[in-house]
Amino acid sequence: MKETLSILIVDDEQSYRNELTEFFSDNQFHVHTAALPSEALRVLTTNDIDIVVLDIRLPEMSGLDLLRLIKSDYPDIEIIMISGHGDMDSVIQAMRNGATDFFSKPFKMLEILSAIERSKRFIVLNSKLRDVEQNFQRVSRQLNDNFGHGIIGQSRAMKQVMDMIGKVSISDSTSVLITGESGTGKELVARAIHLLSPRRDKYFYAVNSSAITETLFESEFFGHTKGAFTGASENKTGWFEVANKGTLFLDEIGDLPMALQIKFLRVLEERKISRVGATKEIDIDVRIIAATHQNLEQLTEEKRFRLDLFHRLNSFVIQLPPLRERKEDIPLLLKHFVADYSNKLGKNIEIIESGVFDMLQAYKFPGNIREMRNMAERAVILAEEGRIKPAHFIIYKTMKMAPSTVMDMAEIYDLELIEKETIVKAIKKANYNKSQAARLLKISFQSLDRRIKKFDLTFETRLI
Ligand SMILES: Nc1ncnc2c1ncn2[C@@H]1O[C@H](COP(=O)(O)OP(=O)(O)OP(=O)(O)O)[C@@H](O)[C@H]1O
Ligand SMILES: [Mg+2]
Repeated sequence: MKETLSILIVDDEQSYRNELTEFFSDNQFHVHTAALPSEALRVLTTNDIDIVVLDIRLPEMSGLDLLRLIKSDYPDIEIIMISGHGDMDSVIQAMRNGATDFFSKPFKMLEILSAIERSKRFIVLNSKLRDVEQNFQRVSRQLNDNFGHGIIGQSRAMKQVMDMIGKVSISDSTSVLITGESGTGKELVARAIHLLSPRRDKYFYAVNSSAITETLFESEFFGHTKGAFTGASENKTGWFEVANKGTLFLDEIGDLPMALQIKFLRVLEERKISRVGATKEIDIDVRIIAATHQNLEQLTEEKRFRLDLFHRLNSFVIQLPPLRERKEDIPLLLKHFVADYSNKLGKNIEIIESGVFDMLQAYKFPGNIREMRNMAERAVILAEEGRIKPAHFIIYKTMKMAPSTVMDMAEIYDLELIEKETIVKAIKKANYNKSQAARLLKISFQSLDRRIKKFDLTFETRLI
């Protein structure tokens, strides 16, 4: 992203050119000028112009024709038209042909500035989006080459995640905190960061924080020498040493006992350890990636997580969205997992019935992608004649039922459809009066309201 934008002013009247040049030079732009369209086109070929301020009345060709020429060769350039009196028709034409704004002679500088500011915001936003897109493409390609498959997902949220993976993997020793519900891909992302970093040839070592006890902490993290304590019958290399020059992944960091958090933080700060029973210090160079499904900030408020450690880890956070918030990725993921399991299980699946996709879009996926993967595996096993059908899916109805109660997903889908239709009917019958509809349905007003939201019923605005 460049800091300074370049403006080209095209006007045959020197006084205007001068006035505008003076004005913009004060406002941190690179300013170029052209008196004629031919000159303007020359400037465009030799400079990277972001915004063109273009007079409608010009010699050689009209400003409108020049606008069309510029837009066809440089579609991303923002064009702001200057019009004289009585040019309204041309202004309308110009806006239709892709001009972003216009102002009229004589100028009010404030108007010009606000037009330019609007364009600038647009350019910055666009360039950020392009940046994210490019990073996303690059990271996907690299992961594909390394993993055999990338991280699946093309939703806006996942593109942003990939963009962040790309950025942080390059900055070699920055600690990263990955947050997200169970099964959203925290470990997958941690591995991806390692794999794309200069540390890729060293160890990626994953540790589950909840399994670390106070008695074992030092021995596990730092290692020990033979005879350092009762039971230390061999020399042992600690996790920090194993992961040295590589990446240490601390899963479920929120479960690390308070007493150990301070010890851990000290290592992060001093970057030195010594094995239990040894005096020699070892320099430690590991990237820490921590993950949690908990809200660490809240844990610090409840005094269950140290604020200093939180700040240390919180400098670069990647938040993984739950699957239900990026439903457009569901078909991609399902196809990916179905292909994967068909391959592994030697089955030839040719069709996934469209009802399957509808059904999964309506489901909340509390177990996120892991749950989706397991569903896909089961469906592939059950599939016959190369077809996957809604009946091949079994899920846990999340809300009110005990987790042991299993319900056929097709059945839930049917029930929901019936429920939705009943609500729509009642509301129409009650003449769009919600209270009356609730009475008809024999449910509370709140309960009706919840369902209206759940089903995303669009006549909401007509309800009284
Ligand atoms: N975007 C994705 N594309 C492809 N596979 C994915 C994606 N996200 C997750 N997975 C797969 O889903 C499974 C669960 O992912 P992972 O173990 O990384 O989740 P997690 O967030 O660490 O879960 P938990 O909190 O339960 O430990 C893994 O098999 C992983 O490979
Ligand atoms: Mg995990």
